[in-house]
Amino acid sequence: KQRLRRKKLKVKVRVPATAANLGAGFNCLGLALELYNTLEISEANSGVSIKILGEGKNGLPKNRSNLSLNAIYKVFDICGYKLKGLKIKIHNRIPIARGLGSSAAAIVAGAVAANELCGKKLSQDDLIQLCADLEGHPDNIAAAFLGGLTICGYEDSKLIYTNIFVRYGLRAIIAVPQNLKVKTKDAVAVLPKRVPFADAVFNLSRVAFFINGMMTDELDIMGLGMDDRLHQSYRKGLIPGLEDVFRAARGAGAHGVALSGAGPSVIAITNRFPDPIGEAMKKAFAAKGIKAEIMILDADNKGVTVKVKRA
Ligand code: HSE
Repeated sequence: KQRLRRKKLKVKVRVPATAANLGAGFNCLGLALELYNTLEISEANSGVSIKILGEGKNGLPKNRSNLSLNAIYKVFDICGYKLKGLKIKIHNRIPIARGLGSSAAAIVAGAVAANELCGKKLSQDDLIQLCADLEGHPDNIAAAFLGGLTICGYEDSKLIYTNIFVRYGLRAIIAVPQNLKVKTKDAVAVLPKRVPFADAVFNLSRVAFFINGMMTDELDIMGLGMDDRLHQSYRKGLIPGLEDVFRAARGAGAHGVALSGAGPSVIAITNRFPDPIGEAMKKAFAAKGIKAEIMILDADNKGVTVKVKRA
């Protein structure tokens, strides 16, 4: 009798960078950007090997403390997948620990790839929830999955989310400090346990301005909506020159500007010519001894994408 050999799967997942918070929308808003990490996974007969290219190629762990591998094993456990062997190749383009969602991208890439090997046992909803639990906050995860501008929040422990298509023509200008990293955990540690009621009301109005401005293309309203009183002022001690960078971006034509996630990167948004805004932000950081790289990125409206091959 001829034995049938099951064809081995090869899966390639692409995940966008994300800017969370966008000013007022602390832990609720996220914007996906056209800058991507990829993860390729193929079934093998034995052993687990990981190759990492690009950002973090020398520093990232290759054992279970690797965020992608941990997410892969989590999905395998839940789905009861019998692991024989794996070959994993990761290509990182998202700078690490700069507030651009590199850890969310790593988790989403691993979880989505593993779910493909498990015959898609988990729904998108299960996966988003699982990834947000692994990451510890949901905003980058929702944006990395869905693309566009995402809004998320919890109903008890269930994550709820929705997304908005970002129209063509809006540009994100991102100043990425090269010699400064901020761990989200440290940026959360400086936040107060309570905030003044008036500050909460201020942010409510700004989030509403931001969303409406985005949807109606009233970019001055959108930009007003990037102001914040819940987290940025508490974090400015971690990022020298933050307020000067904000001022410089507005002065050079940005409609709005905010910390990208917990920082240290700063994101400005405009439909005007982006280069002078980037130059102004770079100069303001340089005045405080911080060398910043400028990235000019369009919004990503696709979110995570998957390609599967059988060999
Ligand atoms: N929204 C979280 C924070 C994580 O600002 O602490 C952002 O990446």
